[in-house]
Amino acid sequence: MRSYPNSEKILQHNKRYIPGGVVSVNRSVSPQIAFVKARGALLWDADGNEFIDYHAAFAPYILGHNDLDVTAAVEEVMRSGASLYGAGTTALEGEVAELICTNLPWIESLQIVNTGSEATAQAIRCARGVTGRDGIIIMQGGYNGWHNDVAGNLMTPLATLGPRISPGEYPFHPISAGIPKAHQQLVHSVNYNDLDSVRWVCERYPMAALITEPVLQNIGIVPPLSGYLEGLRALADEYGFVLIFDEVKTGFRHAFGGYSEVSGVRPDLAVYGKAVANGFPMAIVGGKRELMDAFVHPDPIRRVLLAGTYNAHPVPTAATIATLRRLLADNGAVYRHGEALGARMEQGLIDVTRRLGIQATVSRIGSAFCLYFMDHVPVDWHDLATHHDFTLDDRFRKELIERGIYFFPLPVKQASISAAHTEEQIDRTIETAAAALEAALLVEAR
Ligand SMILES: Cc1ncc(COP(=O)(O)O)c(C=O)c1O
Repeated sequence: MRSYPNSEKILQHNKRYIPGGVVSVNRSVSPQIAFVKARGALLWDADGNEFIDYHAAFAPYILGHNDLDVTAAVEEVMRSGASLYGAGTTALEGEVAELICTNLPWIESLQIVNTGSEATAQAIRCARGVTGRDGIIIMQGGYNGWHNDVAGNLMTPLATLGPRISPGEYPFHPISAGIPKAHQQLVHSVNYNDLDSVRWVCERYPMAALITEPVLQNIGIVPPLSGYLEGLRALADEYGFVLIFDEVKTGFRHAFGGYSEVSGVRPDLAVYGKAVANGFPMAIVGGKRELMDAFVHPDPIRRVLLAGTYNAHPVPTAATIATLRRLLADNGAVYRHGEALGARMEQGLIDVTRRLGIQATVSRIGSAFCLYFMDHVPVDWHDLATHHDFTLDDRFRKELIERGIYFFPLPVKQASISAAHTEEQIDRTIETAAAALEAALLVEAR
């Protein structure tokens, strides 16, 4: 049995000063491990245990931890005397904008913030400012950050959610206390992959925006059905709402242009974070110039406020430039590597579950994947929550961690492969998955 006495000591110390002892409540999971170091695909904890990492800190590490190029760029910018000025523009922020706008034609101009949540908040506010409407549509099973507009309807228990509603909408089920009731009324939650429900909402209320991850990636990997994203595009044009793709997880992960590039469907606004800076705090909101110009509208009444002391700080900005250059290098070698290792992992996990007689499906897009214990890839949260074996998933993850493979220990959390992972690590993971599943089944049989 792995043991974590030093992690426990750190946790007990931190509990004196931090509620729960952990910063960011979604990091408080069992086993409670205090990590101290990471390099490439590997993590080490305070007790010297080593892990192959697939959590990737909720997915930003597309190049792996402490990537040498990114670290060198950060060191260089710090030594150069660059600082945060809080006045005027910088060449660095212009370089980030040029790298993105010249490679992603649907991003005509962009703004830079620090986190995905800030970016989704700004995109929604921009849509409201431009359309003069207040309502927004979100996806049941989607996650777009922690702010009042979107902090609801993620993994809502079926006992709360009730039977499938289509066409129609689910009531707002907050995942946070403190969201004003009046605000909740503005948010309409529908099943992903369900165009009829979007139309149903638009027929009844004026919508400023629909925000969705193009692939739901906070409940594993739930891909769009054929024609779904195109259908959203057509509904946005018909009803005049702003189509916002939240590419915080998909962006720069599945292709340089994220899932908009993969699907060929162009949003009005798109939001990026995570992989854009390989682990540094950076996020982007960008899209059609006529929308983005709302941030500099000459009439102060119609101008949308975007401000932030740390926006485009030189450290994350330099990290972004280094990351984007690597992602563009060698005609997308990083993506080919992710696809090859992802396919190897998918086949290995399928073989293992077949051998053990476990009903399972791997949903995967390139380097991101999720092993579902059900007989099909889910189409939405309701489908997933009805069919997936959450208990086996939970045990499997804990048994993997026990054997040195770090999948985030919560069911249906997606796993990410980086450019630093090797074939040997993937093969070791597949072998370990077999042992972990056997152990998980034994616990279940007892
Ligand atoms: C799709 C998506 N959007 C937005 C966010 C929020 O990003 P951040 O945690 O950087 O605020 C996340 C975070 O996991 C995410 O997965």
